[in-house]
Amino acid sequence: MARILVLVGGSVAALKAPSLLRRLVEAGHTPRVVATASALRFVTELSLAAAAGSAVASDVSWFRPDGAALHLSLAEGADLAVVVAASADLIARAALGRSSDLASAALLSLAAPVLWAPAMNTRMWEHPLTQAHLEVLRGLGHRLIGPVSGPLGTAGEPAGMGRMAEEGEILGEVARLLAPGDLSGYRLLVTAGPTREYLDPVRFLSNPSSGKMGYALAERAAARGAEVVLISGPVALGCPPAVRRVMVETALEMRAALRAELPGSAALLMAAAVADYRAAEPATQKRPKGDAPLTLELVPNPDILAELDQAGLLRLGFAMETAEDGLERARAKLERKRLDFLALNYPTREESPFGGDYNQITLLASGASPEEWPRLPKREVADRLLDRVSARLGG
Ligand code: CTP
Repeated sequence: MARILVLVGGSVAALKAPSLLRRLVEAGHTPRVVATASALRFVTELSLAAAAGSAVASDVSWFRPDGAALHLSLAEGADLAVVVAASADLIARAALGRSSDLASAALLSLAAPVLWAPAMNTRMWEHPLTQAHLEVLRGLGHRLIGPVSGPLGTAGEPAGMGRMAEEGEILGEVARLLAPGDLSGYRLLVTAGPTREYLDPVRFLSNPSSGKMGYALAERAAARGAEVVLISGPVALGCPPAVRRVMVETALEMRAALRAELPGSAALLMAAAVADYRAAEPATQKRPKGDAPLTLELVPNPDILAELDQAGLLRLGFAMETAEDGLERARAKLERKRLDFLALNYPTREESPFGGDYNQITLLASGASPEEWPRLPKREVADRLLDRVSARLGG
């Protein structure tokens, strides 16, 4: 997706750079690493190269005869530069326009946006010179993430301001800087995951939804500038960066949370696999087992998506069909619930969309013929769906 120049500075937090690089690669980016001489005293060149999947550029390669203009070629190819474990000294070199090493020379040659993740001792962070240098960088339009207050890397050092921002926060900021920002100014509600309908305090009816599709939508919408509220059933996923998450269990709780969050929202993206039925009378105590067959009485849950049909709210639903006439059934669902979009998927094709990282959908839109999309990573499906949402909201 993007070519990211990752500059690693000489702070203990440089140890965290390989993990961050791996996550950038997993997100589809191509990182190019520059490590300062002091960074390489904290983290090895090999672990950075292995995580990034490419050779690390350092002063050693710069000063080789064939590396003379390395700072220029690194800078020219970058869509974004991220400086991690940014030390007070590297910040100072950049602010003063020094080009005494490969990292500062590359920064001086760069036209792309720059994101700084500083990491240093509290006194160095608070020093007026460090703060003055950061002001210079901010004035150039550079972005800053962290530091935060917390345990610092040096043994015996009291916890304090200067700890590098967490990996998820840095990745979220990277995504925001790279995203088109077309959803900024819109508030989006996203639901994800299954619901649980309790039969007694320890047993419930549910389904295998992993929540991955809804979480991908929430993550990408936030990266594209939207204010996102994610209403999630029980799943094993962490909250995406810059997203506000409300955890629920039952369909009725999901409905209540949605109603509370609805005011001011521009769109509802309903990826949750809401259970259609709940127990008519859930037992308040654990049901003892017996020898006789057990008959459960179930009552229908409200159709949350159909209910929230209010003027001006764009609504996207998901439908899972297993029948031959899935497309007609989905078309009927789109009309019955008066949806703007319905993403149809089939669990019986070569793989189940439940739990996987890929999805293959047919998109139905009101007033248009169905579109069959290729099998794509869920994050890409999310972006394509958001392209449609964005076009309709903006248009
Ligand atoms: N949905 C909902 N509330 C329910 C059931 C479903 O809001 N009680 C939403 C889902 O989140 C999804 C869409 O409606 O976005 C379609 O869900 P699906 O279960 O396929 O449709 P149903 O209307 O329940 O139809 P059926 O189960 O008969 O196929």
